Amino acid sequence: MRVIVVRRGNAMTRRTIAPAKGRLGILLPGMGAVSSTFIAGVELAKKGLARPVGSLTQFQTIRLGKRYEDRAPLIKDFVPLAGLGDLVFGGWDIFEDSMWDAALKAGVLGEHQLAPVKDELDAIVPMPAVFDQAWVRNLKPLQAKKGATKLALAEQLIKDIEVFKKTSGADRVVMIWCGSTEVSLEPSAVHETIEAFEKGLKTNSPDIPPSMIYAYAAIRAGVPYANGAPNLSADIPALVELAEKNGVPIAGKDFKTGQTMMKTVIAPALKARMLGLKGWYSTNILGNRDGEVLDDPGSFKTKEKSKMSVLDACLDTKRYPELYGDYFHKVRIDYYPPRGDAKEGWDNIDIAGWCDMPMQIKINFLCRDSILAAPIVLDLALFLDLAKRAKLKGIQEWLSFYFKCPQARPDLAPEHDLFIQHMKFANTLRILMGEEVIDHSGLDYYEPEMGTSAPAPAPKPYLKEKKKLSARVRA
Ligand SMILES: NC(=O)c1ccc[n+]([C@@H]2O[C@H](COP(=O)([O-])OP(=O)(O)OC[C@H]3O[C@@H](n4cnc5c(N)ncnc54)[C@H](O)[C@@H]3O)[C@@H](O)[C@H]2O)c1
Repeated sequence: MRVIVVRRGNAMTRRTIAPAKGRLGILLPGMGAVSSTFIAGVELAKKGLARPVGSLTQFQTIRLGKRYEDRAPLIKDFVPLAGLGDLVFGGWDIFEDSMWDAALKAGVLGEHQLAPVKDELDAIVPMPAVFDQAWVRNLKPLQAKKGATKLALAEQLIKDIEVFKKTSGADRVVMIWCGSTEVSLEPSAVHETIEAFEKGLKTNSPDIPPSMIYAYAAIRAGVPYANGAPNLSADIPALVELAEKNGVPIAGKDFKTGQTMMKTVIAPALKARMLGLKGWYSTNILGNRDGEVLDDPGSFKTKEKSKMSVLDACLDTKRYPELYGDYFHKVRIDYYPPRGDAKEGWDNIDIAGWCDMPMQIKINFLCRDSILAAPIVLDLALFLDLAKRAKLKGIQEWLSFYFKCPQARPDLAPEHDLFIQHMKFANTLRILMGEEVIDHSGLDYYEPEMGTSAPAPAPKPYLKEKKKLSARVRA
């Protein structure tokens, strides 16, 4: 038999991806509002009692090939992902609450909504955490591991991962940090190489916070790791090096959910239209435990840095000093207990147009923090597992889409624009599956010799094609 390989434009050879066979374990350091909302949502969805809205892995399609081909499978049918039914959960916390108690305390979903999965949530109880109050000052631990050195604590976590795999029947595991935001830390010599880092673990370096111990344990155990908070965690040269060496995908930092997601939509729009920016004032109130932690100036500083970084990057301030060189930017987060997880954010944006005439944009986002974060946890878990099976290693820049402060190679400026991030993401999936990369120029339809993808034949006859298109759009 002769096999004829038809090369579709710039399509590459499909990557060999191991199948998503068996159970996928999702381990969560930090089992508070986000984790309990995430697990509850997945368990409800497994029973068909709730929809995992906001999740690209569950709802989004991906366009393939030429526009007239009308090929747009669901992402989950295009790439081999673990199914919701194959997911099992575990994690660590300083509180002993089961996921049922944690979900009730977080108050994101009501007791009546959670009731059908009470048994499943009751069965998930956090393991004792690696914790140090120096890094999260507003919380007092009820259960924490003891060890003579930080390396000994990491070894205990690795043991926990092994035990979890056995007891849950998980064939593969990923870890997503959903723990509190740690006090701000600048990278230093101990973070530079894996030798220095491991020496620091053995000698209890004060510059290694718990989130780095979890990241180290995950990477050593071959477990993909993502960081949902803004603290450095795996974003240090030593752990990037270890991840590359061990063939482990990593991603971070800080889930991009409410106000910052809106910033990375509006700021690129201002820049695309060359509208000036005079000032951007953002303030939030929230009353959950995350808000309580962020009430400490040390933790707030970490979050503030993460939230502040996006505007300069989206506006490319250095290239456009006349329009964006001197804007005022302020971010506030106020702990306001009555609101619980139902955060409210206000943005006042002062912009300038033709002849420098001032204009304003106001955004009032009444969001629910954990409701926006839960689908991100699901997608990251499924995509990191895919990345591991596809033998991708180290920083997964294509997952920048999910983060406020995307981890990138030190010589590359991280991409913040939500739509460029999305293009990066979709093209990575196309490349993995050997499909043509879409550059969106459209030149392949109008100036075939100029396009970067395969030239498209001209449509004919005109009216018949138009009718076909409108029927497709209506369908
Ligand atoms: N919800 C969002 O929209 C959103 C967006 C971006 C980032 N985040 C970040 O995600 C994280 C989780 O948010 P949340 O609302 O669930 O907060 P939460 O306070 O409800 O839960 C965090 C949990 O982490 C636990 N914890 C702290 N240190 C730990 C450690 N060393 N080991 C194990 N557990 C530890 C705490 O006890 C707590 O139960 C926070 O860092 C938050 O800043 C959330």
